[in-house]
Amino acid sequence: MNVSVQQGGIQAVEAEAIVVNLFKGVTEPTGATGVVNKALAGAISELIEAGDLKGKLGQTVVLYPRGAIPARRVIVVGLGEPDKFDLEAGREASGAAIKAAKKVGATSVATIVHGGGSGGLELTEAAQAVVEGSLLALYKYDAPRSKRDEDEDDNQVDLLTLVEYDGSKISQIEAGVQSGQVIAESVYLARTLINQPSNVATPTAIAAAAQSMCSEVGLSCAVLNEAEMREQGMAALLAVTQGATQPARFVIMKYQPGDSAQNGNQPVVLVGKGVAFDTGGYSLKPSASMESMKGDMTGAAAVIGAMRAVALLKPPVPVIGLTPLVENVVSATAYKPGDVFVAKNGVSIEVVNTDAEGRLILADALCYAGDLNPAAVIDVATLTGGKVIALGERMSGLFGTDDSLTEALMVAGQKVGEPLWRLPLDPAYDRQIKSEVADIKNSGGRAASAVTAARFLAQFVGDWPWAHLDIAGGEFFSNSPEQTPRSYLTKGATGIAVRTLVEFLRNWNG
Ligand code: BES
Ligand code: MN
Ligand code: ZN
Repeated sequence: MNVSVQQGGIQAVEAEAIVVNLFKGVTEPTGATGVVNKALAGAISELIEAGDLKGKLGQTVVLYPRGAIPARRVIVVGLGEPDKFDLEAGREASGAAIKAAKKVGATSVATIVHGGGSGGLELTEAAQAVVEGSLLALYKYDAPRSKRDEDEDDNQVDLLTLVEYDGSKISQIEAGVQSGQVIAESVYLARTLINQPSNVATPTAIAAAAQSMCSEVGLSCAVLNEAEMREQGMAALLAVTQGATQPARFVIMKYQPGDSAQNGNQPVVLVGKGVAFDTGGYSLKPSASMESMKGDMTGAAAVIGAMRAVALLKPPVPVIGLTPLVENVVSATAYKPGDVFVAKNGVSIEVVNTDAEGRLILADALCYAGDLNPAAVIDVATLTGGKVIALGERMSGLFGTDDSLTEALMVAGQKVGEPLWRLPLDPAYDRQIKSEVADIKNSGGRAASAVTAARFLAQFVGDWPWAHLDIAGGEFFSNSPEQTPRSYLTKGATGIAVRTLVEFLRNWNG
């Protein structure tokens, strides 16, 4: 997709569709919408009067100017209540408008920056929201098919132009367009890795995708094989993979800011759970719960996507991304309930449930992160069904040892429309994971299982700020009442947490 910025009045732009907007309650359109309304001899006013256009957030109407202006179609999108308008509303309106354009067959779309004027948003951020919302709404997984998907539109929108009348605002808009495009394309990468089935996106294939991303954007990348993991003492991670035919991988992606003044700085380390498929192992999942378990590498995909965006947006902080990648399957060589393994830091673990595998691979990855002299470590994982019970699909669970780190993540998540809710990391819960035959066991039972999983991870955390995001349930867009529909979420993977991590890293000065 080609995204550009153009100075001028939107009524003069030649495009297959131009997009203007309307806040709820407005009866006399002003600004760019007012100019277009006038050029169309009051057609937008008439829609409002007739009650066909109310400005509800995401509502769209299509008008045909019949030569009154160069554009072939005019799309008016509702922005909702003016005092509720924020970046999320900007993404929502943009996604709705571009979907309407695609549906009617427009391949080139020009739009004004929603909320950039009277909406009172910071202009660069508002432009970023328009681009993010538009591109994310158009994502489509390229599934292997023998014949065309009947739901598919014939056309693709391949040109998006942000139009602004005031020349002094162009550079701000351009900055937002650049970030929005980088971030949306990084979410695309994550979504595709998640949407691919586990026979395609194997640990090896995911590692290869990370490696080619790194070489494209200029990051250094190393991939450990199982022998190298053994040398590293990663026995907990290797326990999970020991039943699999597909070999495990451990990816290390490094971003160093160009400014040499930052070179001595400690890195922020991101760790993403990468279980390419989670059958549960001998503690086998029932079929219904297993169905969506190709998504159990969503944490890893988020870290790979975030590293791509970081490489291109260049925040002034060193960042290292780690993704332990395994399959959790059943075989004669698979690990079994009762087995005991010693993690990289010497902590011994009794495996009481082979379905609590994510914490085992994260344990060694967190130890590895600790050896990198981190400024902070953030792990992202589809870790527990308990998180889904506690918070549903809409919000992610946030745990952390450092209030300024968790606060910064909360702010980032709120801003990008991926809200986080803090849950307790109280050592009082450690009794549930005490073992008779090892230091700890890998499941604390049903009660507070998202919390006991986080307490398990805490046993591998050193004297550095740490946060844990439990994103279970948020990996796929479902139309269930638990998931708020959003125009920019498409069927399948959401690409959750990429945007939160990037927003956090761009503002981190820790
Ligand atoms: N990958 C699952 C968690 C999960 C559940 C992700 C639902 C997405 C949606 C994880 O590995 C798991 O199986 N957790 C178990 C642990 C339990 C056996 C201690 C759980 O939470 O049920
Ligand atoms: Mn599991
Ligand atoms: Zn899992």
